[in-house]
Amino acid sequence: MNIQFDETNMLADVVGEGNGITRSAINQNRERAFAALTGFQKQSDAGAIGFPHLPFQTDIRAIGAYAREVRGSFDTVCLIGIGGSALGAWALDCGLRGPHPVQGAWSPKRPRLVILDNVDPDFIDAALNSMQPKRTLVLAIAKSGSTAETAATFMVVHDWLRRGVGRNAGQRVAVVTSKGHGDLAALAAREKYRTFDLPENVGGRFSVLSAVGILPAALLGIDIGRLMRGASEMTRLCWQPDLAKNVALRAALCHYLLWTEKKKTIQVAFPYANRLWGAAFWFRQLWAESLGKARNRKGEVVHVGQTPVAALGTTDQHSQVQLYIEGPNDKVFTFWTVDRPDHSIKIPRPRLNLAAFDYLGGQRLSKLISAEQRSTAAAMAEAGRPNCSFTLEKLDAAHLGAFLQLMEFETAFMGELLDINAFDQEGVELGKKFTFGLMGRSGYESFAGQFERYEKKRAASARA
Ligand code: PA5
Repeated sequence: MNIQFDETNMLADVVGEGNGITRSAINQNRERAFAALTGFQKQSDAGAIGFPHLPFQTDIRAIGAYAREVRGSFDTVCLIGIGGSALGAWALDCGLRGPHPVQGAWSPKRPRLVILDNVDPDFIDAALNSMQPKRTLVLAIAKSGSTAETAATFMVVHDWLRRGVGRNAGQRVAVVTSKGHGDLAALAAREKYRTFDLPENVGGRFSVLSAVGILPAALLGIDIGRLMRGASEMTRLCWQPDLAKNVALRAALCHYLLWTEKKKTIQVAFPYANRLWGAAFWFRQLWAESLGKARNRKGEVVHVGQTPVAALGTTDQHSQVQLYIEGPNDKVFTFWTVDRPDHSIKIPRPRLNLAAFDYLGGQRLSKLISAEQRSTAAAMAEAGRPNCSFTLEKLDAAHLGAFLQLMEFETAFMGELLDINAFDQEGVELGKKFTFGLMGRSGYESFAGQFERYEKKRAASARA
């Protein structure tokens, strides 16, 4: 497993003093980075934060055994979950089996993954119409067990399943949730659904290497053993107090300095591999929800946060890069590249005697995509736009497992550097409570009242 981080284009020598950091600033802040590592390690060792332990603790034997037991009985895995309960599975599926529309036809040997992570009725209707109840395995995933979207979608899908397969519907349902508490756990116990636990100290967006991501991966035929081996190897590197070896810590420090000192308030995650598109969306949630916070750990109001954006190379060179190079200089770009794609594809030489075609003949698409990425990085650097890159030697299970774990460590280190709690998400609670109030959930009447007052304020302002 080999994943490199290159920060050269974040340096002032390359992008200018106003936009770049210096090697001496990185060196001067080494101790701060090591303190962040130690601070986080204490929380991990104390068991307060669980994701670093997942590669060693997730029971992949039990998950693999279940996947073998049900293999062949479904051609579709229908995952019902949202946020951290859905995006990791998408990152793994997209990364290792390819994005839509490239994925091949599905069959019991090669099932497809349908993720129902929205309650848009048109979307749900279309998804249900595309699946056969007798050939679908339903996975309901929710840490809290009470997310409105997941609960509602599960009830709709369960009804569809029961109408399609009758009383045995429960045999086609598996659940991942917190052990022994929450209403999904209660329902699973009552209905005797096969249930896998999510450890209490693992938050949704950090849960890809728990049953939340590993169970769907195993059902789809992904090599979960290799995935976990890559993640274990990366975990060991992430605990090294050594900026040369510990890529997650070095990347966090460089991003921290660039963000706090040069005010790059937006980070564009820019994979040059369609298969990393799912991971880019997974990262967006990880970075946004973990690092966008009102208060620091001392309770001071700080309103920190770097807005993550996902872009795809080379596609978005023809969509976003004009803005990125000439628009506000408030961004840092993180390229994600794959050194050795599975295929390289030689461009034929038909001798067309046309300048736009002939120079390409005989070269490889792998060379072209690499040239495009390096050219975009260079053009950005020349325009004073700081950028950096993660390079995965290959895009296989071991590298993807390692890369996702690296990103989680980088996020945790960034939280320490900023002195914030990267593991809560208070900011989304009020919206959830309003929804419960509006939908009539008992105990949330006061939020329905608050919502009504807000509506009155709006109406008064519209009349004024
Ligand atoms: O990262 C998080 O904690 C959130 O994004 C959750 O994953 C999301 O809100 C879904 O929660 P749950 O798994 O309880 O349905």
